[in-house]
Amino acid sequence: MEEVIRIKGQKLLNGTVQISGSKNLCVALIPASILARDVVVIHNIPPISDVYNLIEILETLDICVQYHKDTLIIDSSNVKYRDLDMTAMERLRASYYFYSVLLGMYKKLEAKSIGGCRLGERPIDLHIKAFEQLGAKFEIKNNSYYFDGSNLHSGHIVFDKISVGATINAVLLAIQIKGKTIIENAAIEPEITELNKFLIKMGASIEGLGTSTLIIRGGKDLHGTEFYNIPDRIEVGTYALIGAATAKELTIKNVIKEHIQSLLDLFDLLEVNYEIQNKSELIVRKSTIKKGIIVLTAPYPGFPTDLQQPLTSFLSVNEGTSVIIESIYTNRFAHIKELNEMGANINVTNMNIIIHGVKELKGLVVSGKDLRGAASLVLAGLMAKGETVVRGLEYINRGYENMIKKLRKIHANIELGLEDFGEN
Ligand code: EPU
Repeated sequence: MEEVIRIKGQKLLNGTVQISGSKNLCVALIPASILARDVVVIHNIPPISDVYNLIEILETLDICVQYHKDTLIIDSSNVKYRDLDMTAMERLRASYYFYSVLLGMYKKLEAKSIGGCRLGERPIDLHIKAFEQLGAKFEIKNNSYYFDGSNLHSGHIVFDKISVGATINAVLLAIQIKGKTIIENAAIEPEITELNKFLIKMGASIEGLGTSTLIIRGGKDLHGTEFYNIPDRIEVGTYALIGAATAKELTIKNVIKEHIQSLLDLFDLLEVNYEIQNKSELIVRKSTIKKGIIVLTAPYPGFPTDLQQPLTSFLSVNEGTSVIIESIYTNRFAHIKELNEMGANINVTNMNIIIHGVKELKGLVVSGKDLRGAASLVLAGLMAKGETVVRGLEYINRGYENMIKKLRKIHANIELGLEDFGEN
């Protein structure tokens, strides 16, 4: 039997949804906290499976972790080196933030490859090059990565492609090395700026926050601190699209407007009925989309690739033809086959998603194959006529806190169910 999400669509939603802490920030804060070798307290940590996997990795490094409500207390005073060969490493891509942390601390590292959603090629060459710029030696033997950090030194890193993860890994290693390191063409996602604020609170010296050039004076003594995680801008965007597709009135609480500006710009072009209230609340109402649009996914402050999949579902019921150019991932398209089976009319050529709007989608059994793809099918199910069964609940649980509970609270006809697909 498999746990699935069962949705009866075309119900008019109404109410308030509270946004949880950012997944992509907390998955960096948790490994980074070890650098304090002290007690770090982080609030607003969502109970998602990526967090539980990171806690499991911390515990194998003899780090003491307490997780009450949404507060994580990490005491790494007794941290011990261990090869990163545990299976939890393979369950999420962000586990590679342990590479820079442990390499800087212990000057060596052996690790198995990392996990993450399958979205096409996801190499780590930019991370390795950044480590090498800082004096690390790297080799692969028997499917394991070996890093030698006995000659680490400060340096000048110029990324030839913008990468969130490689920027974070470069910062986490550079702050541990004495001397001045400059990182150019750094990613400027809010999660990176917030991580840098956290590291500064721990005692690090980092200049250039929010810009593509970071200047780090490394080797400072780091210490414990307390920090608040920011709201998850991709969760905001997902619910905003759900609201625009299905809600009489949806109030989304805990929003940082500037983090979702590219989505609001798109809403303006599409004439979506929305407003910002009390600075941190976004109110969205169901809106009929009468024209097509061209959207390019791009690094921040561009339109996030993580909202490409929910946006594809949203635009599939529409009066125009839209194009989304997916410029970040070569294969973030698994949701499209499922949407087409539900009655959408979408083609993908190269990395262009061409969406010919249809009148309505129809409910069906569909399979999410990755986190945002599964969320996009939930949105499609809420929009569709009849019953939709979404498989791939484990992906949703990686990144959305209590999605079903939050949707039920705004009157969606959605529940967990058990299905036997006769596959085992
Ligand atoms: N890339 C390389 N070489 C590298 C690293 C990246 O070619 O060494 C490429 C990637 O293949 C991709 C592009 O560079 O084509 C950008 O990837 P990036 O490194 O920025 O992505 P990431 O750090 O692996 C984070 C988020 C993703 C989000 C991307 C882009 C985390 C844990 N993950 O991934 O989030 O899509 O940035 O914004 O922060 C999600 O939340 O659903 C998710 C996949």
